[in-house]
Amino acid sequence: LIARAFRHQFVVPDFLGFTKDIEEIYWKCKSNTDGKVASYIPQLARVNPDYWGVAVCTVDGQRFSIGDVHVPFTLQSCSKPLTYAVALEKLTQKVVHQYVGQEPSGRNFNELVLDHNKQPHNPMINAGAILVCSLLKTLVKPEITLAEKFDYTQNWFQKMAGGENFGFNNSVFLSEREAADRNYALGFYMREHKVFPEKTNLRECLDFYFQICSMETCADSMSVVAATLANGGICPITDEKVFRPEVVRDVLSLMHSCGMYDYSGQFAFKVGLPAKSGVCGGILLVVPNVAGIFTWSPPLDPCGNSVRGVQFCEELLQVFNFHRY
Ligand code: DON
Repeated sequence: LIARAFRHQFVVPDFLGFTKDIEEIYWKCKSNTDGKVASYIPQLARVNPDYWGVAVCTVDGQRFSIGDVHVPFTLQSCSKPLTYAVALEKLTQKVVHQYVGQEPSGRNFNELVLDHNKQPHNPMINAGAILVCSLLKTLVKPEITLAEKFDYTQNWFQKMAGGENFGFNNSVFLSEREAADRNYALGFYMREHKVFPEKTNLRECLDFYFQICSMETCADSMSVVAATLANGGICPITDEKVFRPEVVRDVLSLMHSCGMYDYSGQFAFKVGLPAKSGVCGGILLVVPNVAGIFTWSPPLDPCGNSVRGVQFCEELLQVFNFHRY
């Protein structure tokens, strides 16, 4: 970082100007009080709707954040691209996509529906993410215990975040499991169609999925995860090679087409950047070769995306020409 600073080689040369614009958009979005926090479990329903934070990490490790960027929240569906990336890295694209497709479902994220092959449409919706969890559980290090598999996954997430901490929210986990009729239904429906690898224990696999959704972190750390994806799989903070570039390409492709629930098409059209949202109110936004951005604000629109987060991404594109096309 320091060497690049001396050589004036930053990818965002006027970082101060960049952050000023981001700050302006942040304040603009703050006054938007539309949307409702997720209410399917009490732990999410109780979250303060005023929380609003934006964190940025460039591919050369320059960082900026504003607002509630250190308040912990559970990852929820923002974990889906992360587990998918680990599965691709360890098992390869060929193996992973024997089990799950690459097509937007055009339906709700938890819809009881499989594609024409009777497989999950993609890894960014619940069915696909549960399937990816079964691959991680059954095919990656099958010899280790459930506890070790949890640590293993958490270590991967921490590596993507440049060593920053990932915690676990046990009451969210217990509530998720309690309120999981639809996810169980998806699991049984997939088992009926023999979607899972042999030897999958469905109950353990769903528990693993709920545990991953209940991992806890903050917007500041998630911006480093986004930056690792923006930087071809090399974490800009540690310079560690976390993923092969092909893995990152696959993850970003599916975030681009399927990452924003049933708003993915419009988001791809208007913003033109890969992103993944979660019911926690987070949006993981990747500007390839430039920066990773994470926005967090709990109130959601009817599609399930953070209202302030979507507004932020759309306003950002009014100021910066980040659209891929
Ligand atoms: O599976 C669920 O219902 C949640 N734990 C995850 C929800 C979420 O963020 C929706 N995503 N696609």
